[in-house]
Amino acid sequence: MLPANPSPPGASLSWATLDWPRLDRLRAKFLARAGGQGSYWTSREDLANYDFTYAQRIGWKWDAVLRELRLRGWQPPAGPLLDWGCGSGVAGRRVVEFYGVEQFGMLRVSDRSRLAMEFAAERARERFPGLIVARTDAVHAGGTVVISHVVNELDDAGRTALRAVIDAADAVIWVEPGTYDDSRALIDWREALRADFAVVAPCTHRRECGMLHAHNAPHWCHHFAAPPPGLSADADWVRFGRRAGIDLRKVPYSFLVLARSVTPTDTNGATGAFEGWSRVIGEPRLYKGFARVLDCAAEDVREVGVQQRDHPEMFRAIKKGHGPTLLHGAVDARGWKRLDRTLGGD
Ligand SMILES: C[S@@+](CC[C@H](N)C(=O)[O-])C[C@H]1O[C@@H](n2cnc3c(N)ncnc32)[C@H](O)[C@@H]1O
Repeated sequence: MLPANPSPPGASLSWATLDWPRLDRLRAKFLARAGGQGSYWTSREDLANYDFTYAQRIGWKWDAVLRELRLRGWQPPAGPLLDWGCGSGVAGRRVVEFYGVEQFGMLRVSDRSRLAMEFAAERARERFPGLIVARTDAVHAGGTVVISHVVNELDDAGRTALRAVIDAADAVIWVEPGTYDDSRALIDWREALRADFAVVAPCTHRRECGMLHAHNAPHWCHHFAAPPPGLSADADWVRFGRRAGIDLRKVPYSFLVLARSVTPTDTNGATGAFEGWSRVIGEPRLYKGFARVLDCAAEDVREVGVQQRDHPEMFRAIKKGHGPTLLHGAVDARGWKRLDRTLGGD
């Protein structure tokens, strides 16, 4: 039997001291989608165990999102950062790590759980000694809001509170699990917010989301993040994945990035820099000599074909799990897309 996890505040956990029954209980709570049912964080040990495991996996999704934002040449505006629904605070820390303390100067952490806010603030202070870190229940004007894995826990009051936070923000970076329901919930938020914000990503436009067209009802907007190299050979992570019932090789996520102002949008509703581009949804399916790609463009989300003979390098990248993120090219009457440029992947 594993020893009970004795981790006092600030002490770092190890695989040997991980509290598996505690993680099992948290997992059951997450799966129960505890909207409006009050906090499930009962102690600092809950947060420490979560931070060591589930939150790391969430961090890989944040890494993928932040890399895509860099690929698109976008970064959050200078000014304070707010991690809303912070839990153990992985999202805020990942974003500060990526852009640097000087970009934000201040990190605010907010959660319905006081324990979570205390934990997240403490971890951020440990990690970034030069950063001003504050707990907050209030809505502050301006700055960037990060939201991570919260959407399926919101009741009406939570949605109202979050809307007030977003209404006061300059930019929003929001990451959720890549499930059908979570993606569809994020699409609803996008629709509610796109009149007030430019859509930075994943979309290349700010028109109505094509996933809302009736023929796309079976689909959802999701992507896959890769875990750090070598993880699938790490016995501790493999054990965690098995126990938690999650596949660690590919980590599905959905995301939405909004900003008050980016490159001016044209009359077609395309976000200036990416007019005419499309975003690959999910993973392309490979067949003999061609691939089928769910392709999100301003007009619609639809499946297109890409011929291997036209784009052998793209096929090699897809086989390695690193296909391009953004595509540019024309689709012919039979649904074949001929690419003249791609971005992302290798
Ligand atoms: C699954 S955890 C995710 C935590 C963290 N954002 C992450 O990505 O690891 C969801 C968090 O949202 C918080 N939460 C849920 N509903 C909330 C609400 N209405 N107001 C503030 N926080 C809320 C929970 O207390 C919990 O800490």
